[in-house]
Amino acid sequence: MRLQDKVCIVTGSANGIGLATARKFAGEGAVVIVCDLEIDQVEAARQELRADGGRVEGYRVDVSDRASVDAMVEAIKQRYGRIDVLVNNAGITRDASLLKMSEAQFDAVISVNLKGTFNCTQAVAASMVEQGAGAIINTSSISGIYGNFGQSNYSASKAGVIGMTKTWARELGPKGVRVNAIVPGAVATDILKTVPQKILEQVENACWQRRIGRPEELANAYAFLASDEASYINGAVLEVSGGVSA
Ligand code: NAI
Repeated sequence: MRLQDKVCIVTGSANGIGLATARKFAGEGAVVIVCDLEIDQVEAARQELRADGGRVEGYRVDVSDRASVDAMVEAIKQRYGRIDVLVNNAGITRDASLLKMSEAQFDAVISVNLKGTFNCTQAVAASMVEQGAGAIINTSSISGIYGNFGQSNYSASKAGVIGMTKTWARELGPKGVRVNAIVPGAVATDILKTVPQKILEQVENACWQRRIGRPEELANAYAFLASDEASYINGAVLEVSGGVSA
C-alpha cells in the first residue's frame, strides 16, 4: 500500500497505460482521479476500478483546455483538500512525414501532449507547493529521444516534455515536489492501432527484449515514482522500453 490515501490524478486514464496506472494506484491504496475526453469511457473505467474495490472518481477533462482542467482540480481540492500525485499520461499521435504533415496535425499533438502536460501541472503545482509535498510524473516517449519517422509533431512534444520535467524538477524540488518523466517504448495499447503490422514487427525486433511492453509494466514504474520509495528521485528520465537503440 505504497500510495495509501494519496489523492492521485491520472490523465487519459480511461484506456491503455493510464487505465493500468489508475488500477495499480487504486491497488496501492490511493484515491484515484480518472479523467479523459469521453464521459462514458470515464464512467466505464470508474465502475471497473470501483468493482475491484478501488476508491475512484471520474471527470471529463480535455487536458488541452485549461478551463476544463481547472474545473477538475478545483473540484478535487474542494472535496479532498489536497492533491498528492499527478500523472500526465494523456497523449495522441497524428503521424505524417515532414513533407506531408498539416498544420492541424502538428498543432493537435503539441496542444495535447505538450501544452496539456503544462496545463495540468500548472493547475496542481500551487497546491503541492503549499503542502510542501507532491509527485508529478510526465510521459515522454522513445520518439522524443531518438526521433521517429512520421513523428515530427509527436517527437517534438515528447522531447519538450523532458525539457519541462527538468525545469520543473529544478523549480519545485526545493519546495518538496518531485518531478520525473517516464519514457515508454512500444506498449500494447490503442495508440499502436494505426501502426502497420510490418512496422510493429520491426519495433519488436529493435527491442532488446524482442517484445512489445504491457501497460501494467509501465504502471509499475509510475507507482514507484509516485511513491515515497522514490523520495530522492527528481528530474529523472526513466526509460521503460525493454531496451532500444536509435
Ligand atoms: P491510448 O490511446 O491507449 O490512451 C491515451 C488516452 O488519452 C485515451 O484514453 C485518450 O482518450 C486520452 N486522451 C487523448 N487526448 C486527451 C485529451 N485532450 N484530454 C484528456 N485525455 C485525452 O494511449 P497509451 O498508449 O495508453 O498512451 C499513454 C501515454 O503513453 C501517451 O502520452 C503516449 O504518448 C505515451 N506513449 C505510449 C506508447 C505506446 O507504445 N503505447 C509509447 C510511448 C509513449
